Amino acid sequence: MPTESLSANSPTVAVLGMGNMGSAIARALLAAGRTVVVWNRTPERADAVIAEGATAMTTVSAAVRAAPVTIVCLSSSDDVRAVLDEVADQDVAGRAVINVTSGTPADAQALSDRASTAGIGYLDGVIGAYPEQMGTAEALIMVSGAPELWETYRDVVVAVAGRSTHVGDEVAAANVIDAGLTGAFYMSSLVSFIEAVRYMNAVGVSNDAVAELVAYATGVLQHQMLAALNHIDEGNLETDQATITVFANASAAFAEAMGTVGEATMIEAAADICRRGVEAGMGDQDLSALHKL
Ligand SMILES: NC(=O)c1ccc[n+]([C@@H]2O[C@H](COP(=O)([O-])OP(=O)(O)OC[C@H]3O[C@@H](n4cnc5c(N)ncnc54)[C@H](OP(=O)(O)O)[C@@H]3O)[C@@H](O)[C@H]2O)c1
Repeated sequence: MPTESLSANSPTVAVLGMGNMGSAIARALLAAGRTVVVWNRTPERADAVIAEGATAMTTVSAAVRAAPVTIVCLSSSDDVRAVLDEVADQDVAGRAVINVTSGTPADAQALSDRASTAGIGYLDGVIGAYPEQMGTAEALIMVSGAPELWETYRDVVVAVAGRSTHVGDEVAAANVIDAGLTGAFYMSSLVSFIEAVRYMNAVGVSNDAVAELVAYATGVLQHQMLAALNHIDEGNLETDQATITVFANASAAFAEAMGTVGEATMIEAAADICRRGVEAGMGDQDLSALHKL
C-alpha cells in the first residue's frame, strides 16, 4: 500500500538520532511550533524530548514516512548509510533528508547518490554550533545540495539555526567548508589555544591575564585572515609587515620556550611549515605565500 504523499508545507519534521545534538534540534523545532516525530536507536534516550511534545517512532521508516523532511543527526556517515539502506525499499519516495551528521565530502556525495536511488531528496548540512545554541538566531547550519530543495526546506533549517545558509549546489560543498574552517582552522586554533594556556599557566601567567587579551588577539586574527584572503586573491605576496622569515624565527623561539615546560605540538607544526616556506625561497614574502607549499 503506497504511503500518501506529504505536502512540503506539512508542519511535521522527523528527526533521527536523539543524541546531544539531535535532541537539541528536536527541541528547537518544537519551540518553533513544528510537529516533531523522533527515532533513536536506544529508545529511552528520546524520553526527555517526548516529554516535551515530540512523538516517538519505533522504526526509522515510520519516522521518515511521517514527515516530508527528515533531519538525520547520528554519530557517523556509516550510521546514516545504514539508515538510508533501511528505508530504501520502504515506500519513502518523494521524502527529503537533511543529513547534519559530520562526514567527509565523499561521504556526502555517496549518501546523496544512495538517497537518490531510493527516490529521496538529499541535502547535506554541517552544524557550526553547539547544542545549546540550537533554536537561536545566531546558530549556523551550512547546507549544500539542490537549490530548489533548499528553498523548499529552508524554513525548517532556519527554525533550528537562525543564520543558516545554502553554501553550494554541489552536495559536498558544506563538508568541504567544514573540513577547512571547522576542522583545519577552528579545531587547530582551539587546540593551539589550550596548549598555549597550559604553557602560560605552567610559568605563572593567570587565566585572568589571558582573558584580558582574548578580544585583542581574535580581533588581530580576524583582520589578518581577511588580509591573507586578499593577498591570495590578488596574487600579491609582497609584504612590508612581517615576512615568512620573521614568522619562522619567532615561531622557532616560541616552540623552544614552550618546550621547556611540556609539549609544544601546535607551535612546532607552525614553525615547521614556516621553515619549509623559507627553504622554498619564500622567506621575504607574506605569510599567505605558504598556501603555495
Ligand atoms: N555536539 C556538538 O556540539 C556537535 C556540533 C556540530 C556537529 N555535531 C555532529 O552531530 C552529530 C551527532 O553528535 P551528538 O553530539 O549528538 O553525538 P551523541 O550525543 O554521541 O549522539 C550520537 C547519536 O547517534 C546515534 N547512533 C550512534 N551510532 C548509531 C548507529 N550505529 N545506528 C543508529 N544510531 C546511532 C546515537 O544513538 P544511541 O543513543 O542509541 O547511542 C545517538 O542518537 C555528529 O556527527 C557530530 O559530529 C555535533
